[in-house]
Amino acid sequence: MSISRLIPVLFAALALATVAFAQDELPAGAGKETFRKMCTTCHGTEGIVRSKMSKERWATIVDDMLSRGAKGTDEEIDQVVEYLAANFSKKLNVNKATASDFTALGLTADEAQAIIKYRVEQGSVKDFEALAKAPGVAAEKVAALKGRLEF
Ligand code: HEC
Repeated sequence: MSISRLIPVLFAALALATVAFAQDELPAGAGKETFRKMCTTCHGTEGIVRSKMSKERWATIVDDMLSRGAKGTDEEIDQVVEYLAANFSKKLNVNKATASDFTALGLTADEAQAIIKYRVEQGSVKDFEALAKAPGVAAEKVAALKGRLEF
C-alpha cells in the first residue's frame, strides 16, 4: 500500500484509539454500559462527567433527556441515575453533614445519629478507616459510600 493510501487508514486507527481512550475514562460501575448506550447517541460524555450533581438533580436531567428522545427501560433509567449519582455527585463532607444529608445517602436515621455522635466524640473523622470504626454503623455500608463521602 502506498503512503497516500495508508494515511486515511492511520487516521481512522487514531480516531478509534481516541474513542476507546475516552470511553475508558468512564468510572467502572454497574450502570456504565447502560449509561454509554443511553447517553452518548446525541452528545459526548464530557459535559456530563464534568457536572457534579445530587441524585435528585441527576434524575431530573435524565427525565429531561428522555423527553428529548433518550431511550431506555425503567430498569435502565434507574441504573443510569444510580451510576451518575454514584460517580458524578458532589461528595458529602462527613464532618459537616447533617443527619438528613446522611439519610439521603441511604443510611438509617440511627446510623446518621451514630456518625454525628462519633464525630463529636472524636473531634473529627479523618478517613474511611476511622468512619468504619464508628459504633452503630455497618462497615460494609461505609464501604459502599466510598465514592460519595469526603473528610
Ligand atoms: C436524543 C438525544 C439525547 C440523548 C440520547 C441524551 N441527551 Fe443529553 N442533551 C441532549 C440535548 C439536545 C442537549 C442540549 C440541551 C440544551 O442545550 O439545552 C443535552 C444536554 C445534556 C446535558 C447538559 C444539560 C444542562 O442542563 O446543562 C447533560 C448533563 C446531559 N445532556 C445528560 C444526558 C444524560 C445523562 C443522558 C442519558 C440518560 C443524555 N443526556 C442523553 C440530547 C440528548
